[in-house]
Amino acid sequence: MNAIFKRTSVRKFQDIPVEEEKLNKIIQAAMTAPSGGNQKPWEFYIVTDPEILDQLSHTSRYSIFTKNAPAVIVPCCRSEHLVYPELTTIDMAMAAENILLEAAELHLGGVFLAVYPYEDRMQYVEKILQIPDNLHPFSLIPVGYPIRERIRSDKFDTARIHRK
Ligand SMILES: Cc1cc2nc3c(=O)[nH]c(=O)nc-3n(C[C@H](O)[C@H](O)[C@H](O)COP(=O)(O)O)c2cc1C
Repeated sequence: MNAIFKRTSVRKFQDIPVEEEKLNKIIQAAMTAPSGGNQKPWEFYIVTDPEILDQLSHTSRYSIFTKNAPAVIVPCCRSEHLVYPELTTIDMAMAAENILLEAAELHLGGVFLAVYPYEDRMQYVEKILQIPDNLHPFSLIPVGYPIRERIRSDKFDTARIHRK
């Protein structure tokens, strides 16, 4: 899959909006992810309001990149009606990776900004987005058209492969 090999974290974006169809495609990709017992613990906020994007940039010292992004996707995890609550973190990570890969496929860029498991960041995002009590923000994922194409570093390392 080409998107896997061309994806790289993008933190600076052109000042143009992301088409609604592309945002929908990205969310479709997220919801296509596997999950434990097919429990699909996710809900997604799509934020394009510049004022809220600015507020989200203060979630942590590592989240300033939401400020100049045209859109930020906020995957949130349900805390009720779960089959395997102990697997939700893995489920959410799977969905988040699909977001990054579909963005790359659509010639967009994005970056995963950690929210969970940091209580202070989670509470801040819950407050800004007025997220209901049964939902918990997992990450912030700014998406947009990259300012420039980044050369992807080659992380392949044969020393990490072990054969028995
Ligand atoms: C769990 C996780 C948390 C991350 N948190 C942040 C973050 O808070 N801020 C940020 O700028 N990048 C964050 N990143 C992006 C990483 O810095 C990036 O994936 C890593 O440097 C490798 O670069 P690449 O994505 O271009 O391959 C995070 C990535 C992961 C998987």
